[in-house]
Amino acid sequence: MTNPAIAASGLRKSYDGRTVLDGIDLTVPEGTVFSLLGPNGAGKTTAVKLLSTLITPDTGSGDIRVAGHDLATEPQAVRAAIGVTGQFSAVDGLITGEENMLLMADLHHLSKTEGRRVTAELLERFDLTDAAKKPASTYSGGMKRRLDIAMTLVGSPRIIFLDEPTTGLDPRSRHTMWQIIRELVTGGVTVFLTTQYLEEADELADRIAVLNNGKIAAEGTPDELKRLIPGGHVRLRFTDPTAYRTAAEALHDATHDDDALSLQILSDGSQRDLRTILDRLDTAGIEADELTVHTPDLDDVFFALTGSTTVPAQSKETAR
Ligand SMILES: Nc1ncnc2c1ncn2[C@@H]1O[C@H](COP(=O)(O)OP(=O)(O)OP(=O)(O)O)[C@@H](O)[C@H]1O
Ligand SMILES: [Mg+2]
Repeated sequence: MTNPAIAASGLRKSYDGRTVLDGIDLTVPEGTVFSLLGPNGAGKTTAVKLLSTLITPDTGSGDIRVAGHDLATEPQAVRAAIGVTGQFSAVDGLITGEENMLLMADLHHLSKTEGRRVTAELLERFDLTDAAKKPASTYSGGMKRRLDIAMTLVGSPRIIFLDEPTTGLDPRSRHTMWQIIRELVTGGVTVFLTTQYLEEADELADRIAVLNNGKIAAEGTPDELKRLIPGGHVRLRFTDPTAYRTAAEALHDATHDDDALSLQILSDGSQRDLRTILDRLDTAGIEADELTVHTPDLDDVFFALTGSTTVPAQSKETAR
């Protein structure tokens, strides 16, 4: 068995006596995407900074190994194996995109020729060739973000940390970024990703951990996490109050919302389950004006685990 790319036990960090990470364990196999989720202030960036040697863990933390090297005794070796794209841009606005890249090539001790080759290749890959000679301060947010990640890749790191790589990107740029991340993983790179977008974790991550109150509230594959919480249901909506009342009487096991004239029936969303529900509606002569199937998604998991009671209005309803 190969060593995991990242293995941390009892990772602890507090600031001014306030505990941010209360002894968390993380294992990320090589060539996989691991996503750390959590509300603002949960400690995601702190975890990235610890694992990438930018800050030091509290004494009392357990063993932390990144790329097979002990973080405490071999920080240089860890640094040589990783790339970090921080939550806030590392791009220098005063110089051009190309110059930013060449600077990174110098930092990684690439020869002039090699530096130019890698720079040209990455600028092309990130669709920045046209803008390469312009000052980075004139770039849009999405262009800066792409340049940021291109800069991280100059040293061909085996493990990359991406702290909210797609925050603020439009849907097209976000999909481009996802494609780039997938290509990196196909090439054997390990990605440690933090994100505010549950959909992103669902798309990309092999495993997800939800951070809350300094602890890992849950960890698993996207599907495992979704299975942790109930939340699947069928919702029937009526416009006619009489029809609603008749249906409510017939479906006594449903949750009633008298104001919205809607009924919710627990359902796992499977074909068999939906057929049973439809049969019951037919038998009772119920014709709802709208029927929607709600399957639990990561939003539900996130809100259930992080203790927030408000599910956003655009929670995913699949119209049928
Ligand atoms: N240098 C610091 N000094 C003091 N407190 C800090 C420092 N850095 C972070 N914190 C605190 O640690 C907690 C976790 O911060 P962190 O930046 O890791 O959260 P996060 O999960 O990345 O949040 P976000 O989603 O907003 O990026 C916060 O309460 C923050 O105020
Ligand atoms: Mg952060």
